[in-house]
Amino acid sequence: MKYSLGLLVLFVGATLVAADQDYEGYRIYEVIPSSADQAHLLHQLSLQGYDFISETRLLGHPSRVIVSPGQLEQFERLVEAENMTHNLVNSNLGASIAEEFAQRQMQRLLAPITGKGRLSTERYYTHEEIINYIDDLAQRFPSRVFVKTVGWSYEKRVLKTITITNGDGKANKKVIFMDGGFHAREWISPAAVLYVIDQLVEQFEENAHLLKDYDWVILPLVNADGYEHSQTGTLARMWRKTRQPYTYGGQTCYGADPNRNFDFHWNEEGASSNPCADTYAGPTAFSEPETITVRDLMHSLADRGIMYLTIHSYGNYLLYPWGWTSDLPENWEDLDAVARTGAEAIQNATGTEYTYGSSTNVLYIAAGASDDYGYYAGFNVSITMELTGAGSIGFNPPVTRIDEFVTETWIGIRAMAEKVIEMY
Ligand code: ARG
Ligand code: ZN
Repeated sequence: MKYSLGLLVLFVGATLVAADQDYEGYRIYEVIPSSADQAHLLHQLSLQGYDFISETRLLGHPSRVIVSPGQLEQFERLVEAENMTHNLVNSNLGASIAEEFAQRQMQRLLAPITGKGRLSTERYYTHEEIINYIDDLAQRFPSRVFVKTVGWSYEKRVLKTITITNGDGKANKKVIFMDGGFHAREWISPAAVLYVIDQLVEQFEENAHLLKDYDWVILPLVNADGYEHSQTGTLARMWRKTRQPYTYGGQTCYGADPNRNFDFHWNEEGASSNPCADTYAGPTAFSEPETITVRDLMHSLADRGIMYLTIHSYGNYLLYPWGWTSDLPENWEDLDAVARTGAEAIQNATGTEYTYGSSTNVLYIAAGASDDYGYYAGFNVSITMELTGAGSIGFNPPVTRIDEFVTETWIGIRAMAEKVIEMY
């Protein structure tokens, strides 16, 4: 074990290529650690430039990792030396991405969208379509729905929130703040958030109890630049970060991980100082206009803010603070009760199992994320939801399954909101 990790260190940095790239010949492995040593090896790999597309430290639970052709020999040697269960789940990521892209081109021809009226769950939308959609809702439901410009991305895309009320005109209600699309490639996240918006606005009668004493403030797409970038072509499909350029040792790499960029124990653990890494914390905390926007929203809502909910994919987790330490926050039993309520509601409805707990204890230690910051800023409950993964990459649920995943997500979110409303 010690010896194999020693060897691993020799490879540091050699594998960092968070740039547009061709994934020809890259593989995805599912790895299932059954001992603390095996889990430790996985964590070491994640710090050494292996891209874990879903990662947990829980023994017996699967993590998924991308292995490049150059990493393959080392990877196999290490997992075999540790005797760790590992299954090849994708033998050519490049081919999967190309296939998904071709299908997407087809769908755009078959299902063009005007941005007016309800969005279907038939495909993934662009930033512009999402903005048009919420603007349109504000026009159609002027007494209940309000849209506000809250910031601009690095590439000057507009960031807008939609505030959903019951239209009774009462000011200063308690607030549920939700966002999606922190990580570019997690396309199901904004899709799920759009469905929540649809339910609260179009299915108002059924959901009026969620809006009686609470307003919902929703930012459907935080990382607009990254999301758009990830739709530009096959080489960009796996993009995670924002798009602000950073130059490092003569090389320019793009973006910071917005979920490592918040100023609360910033860059202490589980983040990288290398601009070319996928978990780059940024040169300073709040170096990204997108995270500044979320921060300012959080502070402006904090005294009314009861729950903050941020939607990612994937892995089926409901995570609460802290992510910067294995300690638990003071009201962790409340957080646990809310997360458990969400997990149970989903399990009862669809059979999908969600694992819940503090993000350090369930996933891995990682500081500077928005959930920790929201809790620190004053939200009583703060939850990161990692949705169901599907498709050949995990980030690419086929469009035929969007409906299934967004309705499942809504069941969990609605149950958590009901619980929070009962508790606070
Ligand atoms: N997959 C998410 C990420 O890596 C999980 C964040 C969980 N929260 C935390 N504070 N570490 O960004
Ligand atoms: Zn994410």
